[in-house]
Amino acid sequence: MLRRVRSDRTLLPLVEITPELPCADAPAPLATVLQQLRTATAALHRALEARLPLTHSRLDLDTYKRIIEAYYGFHLPLQQSMERFLAPQGIDPARQKIPALIKDLRALGLTELQIQALPLCAELPAIGSVAQLLGVMYVMEGATLGGQVLRRIIADKLGVDADSGGEFLDVYGRDTGRLWKAFLKQLAEFDDPLYNTEVVQSARLTFKSFQTWLERAGVLNNA
Ligand code: HEM
Repeated sequence: MLRRVRSDRTLLPLVEITPELPCADAPAPLATVLQQLRTATAALHRALEARLPLTHSRLDLDTYKRIIEAYYGFHLPLQQSMERFLAPQGIDPARQKIPALIKDLRALGLTELQIQALPLCAELPAIGSVAQLLGVMYVMEGATLGGQVLRRIIADKLGVDADSGGEFLDVYGRDTGRLWKAFLKQLAEFDDPLYNTEVVQSARLTFKSFQTWLERAGVLNNA
């Protein structure tokens, strides 16, 4: 907590060194929850982006297919976990990503049986509170922004478009900006110094779980 004491002419800040438990009237940290999320996940984003071969010059169709398979294995159980938390109304239908992944897997040549047999991630970030949900959503919704860059790369390099395996990278299509802004509004409405740490921890955990999963799936380049 920051207190101010009067000296001769000015008000000087005095930093209290005894730790205090958070309380309802604790002063808000200067950074918004969004700023905290960006700061706390920037390095994790950079690391993952560097190791995902999607932008690499030697990307081929087989690697791309394995990436989409691994994405499915992470997104399916994560979306199911969100559905459980949000029951009975569930996830906003506009934010459903699984149909796009299934469409891509089919277009890339997988049969229904092969799709059903894909390994699913069991070590997911917990979703037991709104703060945790928002942390997870920050990462997975934010990824749709990068998708806008990636879909063009995939089209250029592999000739893959929305009907031949690239639907997921453009999962929200023209609604990408609108849905991201709507999410940021939800996040800003939630912004609360008492819970922001939980949001940030959840986002960091989501990046780390996804990276570990992709690593195990063998689709990341060496660090
Ligand atoms: C090669 C892979 C990737 C590339 C090239 C990439 C690129 C980008 C770009 C260009 C943006 C900023 C878009 C904008 O400001 O309009 C962005 C934002 C973001 N990306 Fe990625 N991305 C990649 C992978 C990922 C992955 C795998 C995740 C998480 C699963 C992710 C999560 C995010 C998040 C959370 C943001 C939002 C940051 C913010 O504005 O607060 N990205 N990405």
